[in-house]
Amino acid sequence: MVSRNAYIVGTGHSVPEGVITNADLEKIVDTSDEWITSRTGIKERRKADDDTGSSDLVAEAVSDALEMAGWEPEDVQGIIVGTVTPDYPFPSTAAIVADRLGMGRIPAYDFEAGCTAFIYGLIQAKAFVESGMMDRMIVVGADCLTRITNWDDRGSCILFGDGAGAVAVSSRGPGGRLGGWHWGSDGSLGQHLIQKAGGSKRPASHETVDRNEHTIFMNGSRIFKHAVRAMHDSCMEALKKDGTEKSSVDLLVSHQANLRIIDATARALELEPEQVFINIQKYGNTSAASIPIALDEAYRSDAIGESSTVVLAAFGAGLTWGGMILHW
Ligand code: COA
Repeated sequence: MVSRNAYIVGTGHSVPEGVITNADLEKIVDTSDEWITSRTGIKERRKADDDTGSSDLVAEAVSDALEMAGWEPEDVQGIIVGTVTPDYPFPSTAAIVADRLGMGRIPAYDFEAGCTAFIYGLIQAKAFVESGMMDRMIVVGADCLTRITNWDDRGSCILFGDGAGAVAVSSRGPGGRLGGWHWGSDGSLGQHLIQKAGGSKRPASHETVDRNEHTIFMNGSRIFKHAVRAMHDSCMEALKKDGTEKSSVDLLVSHQANLRIIDATARALELEPEQVFINIQKYGNTSAASIPIALDEAYRSDAIGESSTVVLAAFGAGLTWGGMILHW
């Protein structure tokens, strides 16, 4: 049997124009630019206006990825969107965007793995493409977390921003070949990062709204500890599966949740500062969108070149974690 590979052949992203600076947050909660910058690395983040939903950002990001890939919308055989903030609980954001862009009656679905969703999506795409089920598909990570941010909680509201990133995955290169991967979860820690109401367990009611339970509850220090270990393990396991030494890594493109977490991951990989792609200062934590946004910026700025070996790593609600190696 001829073995098939899966390649990233197009990338794209979209962020809303509205900017919230640390100075803006100083007016809302008891915080300071100095605290936010030194504890997180974030200077500003983007916020969608009232008329914009995740699908609007997704459509723009996908259009960019299609253009880079040289695909028409009807070339796409499937689209999957990782998000915890779809336009609606149903129908899916993926189906809305497939229709809006004219992709035809293709399979389209959303899935949820918190901030790890994009890596989960790449692993699904690798399976679909390498097995021969599809030749051309779109993987998206998108979130408008400012829609579910608790603006009274200074421990979390400083972190989040909105955005979407997309990649076109093909059975034909050249491009970034999807290599070794790792993914996992631990639901016993799920209560540390949770939107408590709005699902089937606690449907929306006046009480859930009064108690602010439709916003993000986060135990920051508990998540921080988990994140450092999960990012390290995801990188190492993905490298092992790929058969690649950490000394061969050219660039780390990780989930942008906290600069200190990214630095700890880079130290574990023994990377130099120029081998770590960072854009958290501009966008904050955009959840599922953070890696594909960073990947698109890295690619378009030539931080990724021919024959680059790139490590992706993420952690998120669930709790979930994952990593993947890309070979250009
Ligand atoms: N401004 C000023 N002070 C703040 C603050 C803010 N925005 N947020 C928290 N503090 C205070 C706390 O109240 C606490 O004060 P105390 O010592 O008087 O009790 C102190 O700063 C330290 O709080 P702590 O939570 O231990 O800070 P930290 O160094 O862990 O940083 C986070 C907090 C949230 C930035 C950090 O824990 C983090 O990034 N966690 C991971 C979160 C994450 O990635 N979530 C998304 C997962 S995808």
